[in-house]
Amino acid sequence: MSKHEAIEKNIGLMGILIIIVVSFGGLAEIVPLFFLDDTTKPVEGMKPYTALQLEGRDVYIREGCHTCHSQMIRPFRSETERYGHYSVAGEHVWEHPFLWGSKRTGPDLARVGGRYSDEWHRVHLLNPRDVVPQSNMPAFPWLEHKIIDEKLTPKKLEAFRFMGVPYTDEDIATASASVEGKTELEAIIAYLQSLGLALKDKR
Ligand code: HEC
Repeated sequence: MSKHEAIEKNIGLMGILIIIVVSFGGLAEIVPLFFLDDTTKPVEGMKPYTALQLEGRDVYIREGCHTCHSQMIRPFRSETERYGHYSVAGEHVWEHPFLWGSKRTGPDLARVGGRYSDEWHRVHLLNPRDVVPQSNMPAFPWLEHKIIDEKLTPKKLEAFRFMGVPYTDEDIATASASVEGKTELEAIIAYLQSLGLALKDKR
């Protein structure tokens, strides 16, 4: 029996060999991405989240905002006309984990920073119907009454620094003081207002 025949007649062996061949193809596509500046370097002018914004991001995750809102503008005219510049990898290099999402019950939030006032967000989060009568977004009234636990904040910054986010010793030393006594509502608004600013006006 020739080698070729042995492979053709043994589906298990053929399966294994197919997996090996396909993974080489995959590696050839994936590995270069680890070394391209486009995918590994932050976009110019991007700043790490402040301590308050980072706390707000945690509230965003806990409340499951990402289950209804994506943070990923696709490179189509219909998207860029509505939301602004399409999302690029360099905007997300410090995100752990990514909050791209895949479902849009509500609008994409990748560039919501600066689109509304802080006051608009406050009213909207406490009861969306007060500003958008037809909205079916849930209200999050408890955010106004919950205070950030400032003891955990420096640890969060340290964890992000470990993952490569350029926080300085000073950022970490002042983290607790900068969130002390703040509500979760203030934190999540600070987070929302920071989204997508680095590429905001470049269309
Ligand atoms: C059940 C789905 C759902 C969840 C969960 C949800 N939203 Fe929404 N959101 C919507 C819908 C629908 C709209 C559009 C109507 C409106 O503006 O209220 C919206 C609109 C918004 C807008 C306005 C966006 C724009 O460009 O006009 C913001 C900001 C927002 N949501 C933030 C949040 C945050 C922060 C959370 C988590 C605390 C959250 N949403 C959770 C469904 C949701």
